[in-house]
Amino acid sequence: MIGLTIDGRPIQAAAGTLVIDAARANGIEIPAFCYYKGLSLQAACRMCLVEVAGMPKLMTSCTLPVSEGMVVRTDTQQVAQARKYTLEFLLTNHPLDCPVCDKGGECELQDMVFRYGAGESRYSESKVHTPEKQFSPVVFYDAPRCILCFRCVRICDEGMGVKALGVINRGATSEIAPNHGDHLECDECGACIDICPVGALTSGAYRYQTRPWEMNHVGTVCAHCADGCTTTLGARNGRIVRGTNRDRSGINGEFLCVKGRYAFDFHDHPERLQSPLARRNGKLEEVSWSEALTAVAGKFKATLAAGGAFGVVGSNHTSNEENYYLQKFARQALKTNHIDHHRTGDVVALLDALSGKTGQLATAADLYERKAILIVGADLALEHPLLSFQIRANYRHHRARIYVVTPKPVREDDYAAAVVRGADYASLAEKLKAEPELAILFDDSVRGDGVRTLVEFGESLGIPVKYVCLVDYANSRGAIDMGVAPELLPGYRPSGQPGMRLDEIVAAELDVLWVVGANPLKSGAARKAGFMVVQDLFLTETAALADVVLPAASAYEKNGTVTNSTGEVQSLKRAVETMGAKTDLEIMGFLAREMGVAATLGPWSPAAVAKEIRESVPAYAGAPIPVEGRPAAVRSDHNGLFASGTLGRYSQVLKSVLESRQGR
Ligand code: SF4
Ligand code: SF4
Ligand code: SF4
Ligand code: FES
Repeated sequence: MIGLTIDGRPIQAAAGTLVIDAARANGIEIPAFCYYKGLSLQAACRMCLVEVAGMPKLMTSCTLPVSEGMVVRTDTQQVAQARKYTLEFLLTNHPLDCPVCDKGGECELQDMVFRYGAGESRYSESKVHTPEKQFSPVVFYDAPRCILCFRCVRICDEGMGVKALGVINRGATSEIAPNHGDHLECDECGACIDICPVGALTSGAYRYQTRPWEMNHVGTVCAHCADGCTTTLGARNGRIVRGTNRDRSGINGEFLCVKGRYAFDFHDHPERLQSPLARRNGKLEEVSWSEALTAVAGKFKATLAAGGAFGVVGSNHTSNEENYYLQKFARQALKTNHIDHHRTGDVVALLDALSGKTGQLATAADLYERKAILIVGADLALEHPLLSFQIRANYRHHRARIYVVTPKPVREDDYAAAVVRGADYASLAEKLKAEPELAILFDDSVRGDGVRTLVEFGESLGIPVKYVCLVDYANSRGAIDMGVAPELLPGYRPSGQPGMRLDEIVAAELDVLWVVGANPLKSGAARKAGFMVVQDLFLTETAALADVVLPAASAYEKNGTVTNSTGEVQSLKRAVETMGAKTDLEIMGFLAREMGVAATLGPWSPAAVAKEIRESVPAYAGAPIPVEGRPAAVRSDHNGLFASGTLGRYSQVLKSVLESRQGR
């Protein structure tokens, strides 16, 4: 540790710490525009100048490491004057259009001028004006507002690994420019927009929608992929207008991909179902909730009484509480074990192979810390953007060694220690044995015995190894954890009962098929069941063939929990409501009440079911799984950045990004 004083206060800081960080860690504010923790140093703005005893000039505290006995002052007249002059220069060409700027109210330049700046300008010259440019459906750039801090350039290069932004021209005409002529070809993640300290970069989804203080800010979990990013949704007048994670809560820090930041717009798509539908004379017609629930409960009861066969399909989007209650409903009230969901990774085989050693499941944080990482099969940057971001940051900050075994080139190739094109990870054995530790990520190309072979390979390396079985959707992992599978009860306890798996359920001539938040007939397959009820947000291919369709609330409209690829259980919080829709848990609860089985199934509030899960699902860590999984049923959708199953199809932002790429 190094001892120094800042503003007369004795401070201890680790060797190598920058003065700006040492000050901030001790509650002493030093303003900064270009400095951004986690990104490379730029020293472009001069906002962070401080006095250092013995130095003839003010020093940039964002580039100055602490040294023993250093005496720093951030509160002198000279420092205040320097900040004021810096701001005056920045405002020389600034349009000062705060009243109509998206950033107004949360703009770092506005805040700094309010605190340190001059209220008047000595410049009377004309300002350089250039018109606003649209770089992509998502990214707009207003050069006059830009203060050239290069945060956007660095986050795109270093954070995203995309390198889509650069700087052109010099001096007062310097501008940020996109990578392909006048437009961006990039991930459309919006990280550059969010990190911009001013309103120079604005988002196509949010601009001119609202002022920041007019929104309700609700912290929840992204509804799309299984990485499980926390997102803070900004809602106004019952609509979600923004997704960010600026408070760095959750496992993702500030990171969100295009889906988390913008593809919340499925929630108010004009085709959202807002009324139950029932088939009359061959056509689906709107009916009241009570008519629909009575019809479904009546059919369920009559089928039970007649000893008919039920099949139940659960969801990798609905909450843990909903999946838990659904399997309980199926098994206890409908007396069926024909229950399954679309499996996208062989989690069961991994937990089986690791029996008793489940400290070996890697978390998202592990991927930032682990000294070596082996990626098998997956194109992480497209299919698991957060995990890709974590691994990239690990490489950048800790020089982690990355090993890639994928069929096609992937972004991780750029900084990999070794790349194998294909599936032969065993050829890396000697290199991996030399590593101190390893995390292995694998997708659906490894399943069943393949997973056991992979774990045996990991064991044979003689180093500590952790694993991630990659799955596709926001609660893919939770669905299997909660026992939405014929062979497993919640917590991976074997059911001991025969039961059909998803493709068998869909192909069977059952009396009743109940589909909750899934689209198993998406391929155009014919419906075989005598009666089908579907709960969903949209009239999907499956819902269109149903006898009764019940409009369901999305993940952004409910409370509960979901579990991500890396096993983290996180809370969903309701941000908005859609008139006419109910949460899947409410729908199931009402059906249970209508059937007279509500008392057997227990209370159906998210909190009550979560309590039951905690009591009845022992943490699966350490619990052996003495059953065969269903590896043949595992099939990832391999959604890229601009796809997300049903939800992605109803996102206008994703659609507009895809359209903008057509013909290029
Ligand atoms: S949207 Fe994301 S990928 Fe595109 S330029 Fe901005 S930071 Fe780069
Ligand atoms: S666009 Fe924003 S983040 Fe990029 S250099 Fe300009 S002010 Fe900085
Ligand atoms: S990486 Fe996945 S969880 Fe995170 S924002 Fe993107 S889609 Fe959502
Ligand atoms: S923050 Fe130090 S020079 Fe910009």
